[in-house]
Amino acid sequence: MIAKPKGTNDLYGKEAKIWKYVEEVIDSVMEKYHYNYMRTPIFEASELFHRGIGEATDIVTKETYDFKDRGDRKMTLRPEGTAGIVRSFIEHKMYGDSLPVKVYYNGTMYRYERPQAGRERELTQFGMEVLGSNDPLSDAEIISVAVNIYKMLGLKNIKVELNSLGDKESRDNYREALVNYFKPQLKDLCEDCNERITKNPLRILDCKIDAEKDIMKNAPTTIEYLNEESQKRFNQVKEYLDILEVEYEVNPKIVRGLDYYNHTVFEIKVDTEGVSNLALGGGGRYNGLVKQLDGPDTACIGFATGLDRVIMALQAQNVKVPIKDYLDCFIMYVNEEEKKYAIYLSQELRMAGFICDTEYTERGLKAQFKQADRLNSKYLIILNSEDLNNGQLKIKNNKTKEEELIEVEYLIYYLDEHLTEQDSFQIDDLMQESCHCDDCCSDDHE
Ligand code: HAM
Repeated sequence: MIAKPKGTNDLYGKEAKIWKYVEEVIDSVMEKYHYNYMRTPIFEASELFHRGIGEATDIVTKETYDFKDRGDRKMTLRPEGTAGIVRSFIEHKMYGDSLPVKVYYNGTMYRYERPQAGRERELTQFGMEVLGSNDPLSDAEIISVAVNIYKMLGLKNIKVELNSLGDKESRDNYREALVNYFKPQLKDLCEDCNERITKNPLRILDCKIDAEKDIMKNAPTTIEYLNEESQKRFNQVKEYLDILEVEYEVNPKIVRGLDYYNHTVFEIKVDTEGVSNLALGGGGRYNGLVKQLDGPDTACIGFATGLDRVIMALQAQNVKVPIKDYLDCFIMYVNEEEKKYAIYLSQELRMAGFICDTEYTERGLKAQFKQADRLNSKYLIILNSEDLNNGQLKIKNNKTKEEELIEVEYLIYYLDEHLTEQDSFQIDDLMQESCHCDDCCSDDHE
């Protein structure tokens, strides 16, 4: 048997319905905040990510899926969405449109990580970007939208951790402070960190090997090196967050694992019974990226959340998710003549807007009743040649078990009248278990 690649998932059944629901909630929130849906390719020229995310980041050095296409071009499966959006913004000269451009996306990303609960190799991110605004309002708003989405989905114990990396001057000062701090202690750091000190000292701070060492815990923080203007800007973001009633905590240790950030950076975490501090999403300001990728100087901010983790948190917090899992009617028949009418009628009903299904496996009538129950059918239409010859059919309410013989022409009115809005979804908390055990999901890192 050929198994799915490690760190990927098949989505089906109830879990697929939960995903669709989560995506619908996100779409509706995005509509209210006036963000437009955008889609960019799943693979891009490798150079985009090298220049965009940063040569010294773990994502680019250790985690990308790279390949050469048949024309010998170096390509990479996107590990995140921001670089592609920025590339498209420049390529289509969206900077000439009225700014800001507010967009959102939802798609698969690829990172060769060690698979475990909430960490996939094929992950799905929902993200949003505001391109062309340097107003601290955009920073505060994007954080509040993210929090509101989580709240709308029913998640509790959401924590926003906020920090500022400051402008170029502040970042340069901070970089120097980091080099001065780490240089005398390089022997206590891993091989990668010894390289990072010259390439990009900030990346030492998200080293997974040295993370727990005191030397990391006592490192200087960005906030200590903010110049006056950056500090003022950070204060404004906080003030706007207060107006929006977003609770947050300043965590000066947050630097984010991608190179493009300046000023505001943030992470949103959640506590659940099984996992505390699960990173649901993160983002920040990236005022230099458009220019760095050969576009005009454009201030931007964005955020992305892993939908795999959102679903995991919903499961862990036992949130009841309203999912549609029912039929308006199931059409039953026995002989060929009735079947032909079932074929015709099911199409008529579907085109009239009803959720309708029929028998496809030549089951007997008794088994068809069972099938209708399994599919949660509200009504059963039981076709019978004799009734049909009289222009009639039998309809049964599957809950009350009341049966009526009605005129065929009256069927659509009948269903319209009897199917109430209230019936249109059922609350269901039965979620599929996805397997994250160590036995069958153990890593195969070379
Ligand atoms: P990121 O922090 O690398 O940021 O990823 C954002 C979110 O994607 C994470 O918080 C996590 O929920 C999810 N995620 C990341 N890696 C995995 C994985 N291996 N498996 C499951 N989920 C994962 C970015 O990607 C930036 N592009 C965010 C951004 C947008 N910044 C500005 N605009």
